[in-house]
Amino acid sequence: MKDEYRQRRERLMANMAKSTAIFRSASLAVMHRDVEHPFRQDSDFFYLTGFNEPEAVAVLAPHHEEHRFILFVQPKEWEKEVWSGYRVGVEDAKAIYGADEAYPIAELEEKLPQYLSKADRLYYHFGIDELFNQTILKQWQSLLRQYAKKGFGPTALEDPMTLLHPLRLVKSETELELMRKAIAISVEAHHLAWDMAKPGIYEYEIQAEMEYLFRRRGGVGPAYPSIVASGANACVLHYIENSRALEAGDLLLIDAGCSYGYYNGDITRTYPVGGKYGMEQRVIYEIVLEAQRQAIAQIKPGNPFSAVHDTAVQVLVEGMIELGFLVGEPEELIKEEKYKPYYMHRTSHWLGLDVHDVGAYKQNEEESQVLQPGQVLTVEPGMYIAPLVKPAEEQPEVPPQWRGIGVRIEDDVLVTENGYEVLTAGIPKMPEELESK
Ligand code: GLY
Ligand code: MN
Ligand code: MN
Repeated sequence: MKDEYRQRRERLMANMAKSTAIFRSASLAVMHRDVEHPFRQDSDFFYLTGFNEPEAVAVLAPHHEEHRFILFVQPKEWEKEVWSGYRVGVEDAKAIYGADEAYPIAELEEKLPQYLSKADRLYYHFGIDELFNQTILKQWQSLLRQYAKKGFGPTALEDPMTLLHPLRLVKSETELELMRKAIAISVEAHHLAWDMAKPGIYEYEIQAEMEYLFRRRGGVGPAYPSIVASGANACVLHYIENSRALEAGDLLLIDAGCSYGYYNGDITRTYPVGGKYGMEQRVIYEIVLEAQRQAIAQIKPGNPFSAVHDTAVQVLVEGMIELGFLVGEPEELIKEEKYKPYYMHRTSHWLGLDVHDVGAYKQNEEESQVLQPGQVLTVEPGMYIAPLVKPAEEQPEVPPQWRGIGVRIEDDVLVTENGYEVLTAGIPKMPEELESK
C-alpha cells in the first residue's frame, strides 16, 4: 500500500508544476461534551497518505530541494494515547508513511513557510476548521508581502480539487479490490434481508441484521444510513426511521451498503413481502427494471455520463404515459419535467471513497463528463407514487390502486475498456428470481 499512496502523490505532483499543496486531516469531532465520535479521516487526505489520525497536515512540495512530501502529526504522548488510542508519532510517520520529513503538528506555523515561499501557487481547500483556515490565510498574506518586495512567492491560491478529484474519479486496481470487498459484504447483507422479508418482521430488525453483518465481516458499518422502507415508506427517499412492521403484499425497498476499508457499497433492491409482487407493483417494477437495463447499456468509454440518466428518464416517461400517469409527447414531458412527481432524483453518482464520490459530472457548462475505464457509478432509477402525490400541472391524478408504490433498483457499475461490469450482480433483481423465495 505504501507504493500505492506514493504513486497517487506522484501523479498529483506531476501536474503541480511549481506549486505547494496543503491537506488538512479531519478533526476529531466531539459530540455531547466529552464523548468522542468515531474518527473518519478526510477522504482527500486519506487518498494521498493512508494516514488515519486526526490533527495532521500533509504538504506536497514537488519543487522543494529536499522534501517533497511532509507530514505534520501528533507526537507520541502516552498521557494522551491512553485516552484516545496509539499515535504513529513523528519518527514512524517517515518510516511507515514514506514522508521525506515529519514534524510535530505544533511546529506547523514555524516549519511551513520553507515549503511555501518559493512556490508560485498554493493549493488548499478551505474546510470546516476555521482556525486552521486562518492559519493558512495568514501564511499566505505574509508571503504576498514578501512577493511585493522580492518578486517571488505564491500569488495564487486554488482549491486542490481541480487537480486531485479527476485522479480520484478513476479507480486503481487496489481501490477496486476494496470496492469489490465492500460490495461483496453489501450483497451478502441483501441476501439476508431478502430471506427476512416476511410479514410481521419489523424494518429495524432487518436493518439490525444487515448492519451486524457489515461489522461482522470487518466493515466499519453502514456506508450511509440504511433505508429499510416497507409499503408507502418506500416513497420517502430518505426514510431511515425503519420502524414499521412488514405486511403481506407490501413492497420492501432496501437501500443499504457496507463501508469497508474506506470504500463503499451502495445497493437498492425492492423485494416483494411474502414472495409475490402484486399486479400494479409488478408493472411499475418492470418499468424501472427496463429503465435501469437500458441506462446501464449506455455505459462504455466515450459515452457521455448524462446518457445514463437521460436514457432512464426516457424509459420511465414512456412507462408513465402507457400507464396514463402522464399525457403528452415524451420529448415535451421530459423538457418540462412533468415526470418529477414520480421520479425526482438523478439516476447516477460516482462511487468511491465517498458514497457520493468526488469528480465533476460536466466538462464545462454545456458538455457532460465522458465515461472512461476505471470510473465507478451507480445506476439507480426509481418510480415513487406517494399516497398524497400531486401530479404536475395539466396532468391527470394517479388512480388509487397505484398509490403507495415505490420502487428503486440500484447497482454499482464499473466502466471497463469495452463497456461495463455490474459489480453488484450478486444480488438478483429479475422479478421471477425475487419471487422465488
Ligand atoms: N443511498 C444513497 C444513494 O443511493 O445515493
Ligand atoms: Mn446511490
Ligand atoms: Mn443507495
